Amino acid sequence: MDKIIIAIDGFSSTGKSTVAKQLAKHLGYVYVDTGAMYRSVTLYALEKGLISNDDFNREALIYQLPSINIHFKFNEILGFAEVYLNDVNVEKDIRTLKVSSFVSKVSAVSEVRQKLVEQQQKMGEQKGLVMDGRDIGTVVFPNAELKLFMKASAQTRAERRYKELIERGDDVSYEAVLKNVEERDYLDTHRRDSPLVKADDAIEIDNSYLSLEEQFNKVLKLARMAIEDCE
Ligand code: DC
Repeated sequence: MDKIIIAIDGFSSTGKSTVAKQLAKHLGYVYVDTGAMYRSVTLYALEKGLISNDDFNREALIYQLPSINIHFKFNEILGFAEVYLNDVNVEKDIRTLKVSSFVSKVSAVSEVRQKLVEQQQKMGEQKGLVMDGRDIGTVVFPNAELKLFMKASAQTRAERRYKELIERGDDVSYEAVLKNVEERDYLDTHRRDSPLVKADDAIEIDNSYLSLEEQFNKVLKLARMAIEDCE
């Protein structure tokens, strides 16, 4: 059976990674979370003191890009690949509100995007890939056989992200999470390089009122149809 590339784009906290992981597991495909890559570069910038509330040393970050190594390693217990920054597992550290607050600044830097897009395209050479992000169907894999664009209201998304952060023990307020979701929507859709837009041939999925099961069944049907079309 031919393998395809499935590109999943959309706003933050629309459940892209949940559906991407489910699909990859079901189809025996590799799953890649590109947001984790931009978050890892942001964590690096924060750890090296290159970024703070009122200062961002873009030039220093660009200069240090060759020393930033990001790779994924499959975790058999969790059933998905975790992200490593310079050989350290940063899967948990990249999901803080602090990293979320700065990631849009870092992901707007063209040199950062160029480095990560190149790495992402290499991962798709063998196909059999489900990748989620903001520019997968438009920039990384404009010829992907299936493109999905996920949507949900800002409130629904903030509630989901708030629940996740509270469950892992972070001390955050719902208002701060909603503000971050709205700010990132604005920055992700207004940046000059690869802004978040729906590809013309992407299928839109608004999951505000879909259960996880309904969403998965819908997406799996689309994936099966796209695979059949390739044969
Ligand atoms: O999917 P996420 O919320 O973990 O992504 C974090 C940020 O990374 C998001 O606000 C925008 C950026 N991003 C991007 O610019 N391009 C991608 N392909 C993936 C994420």
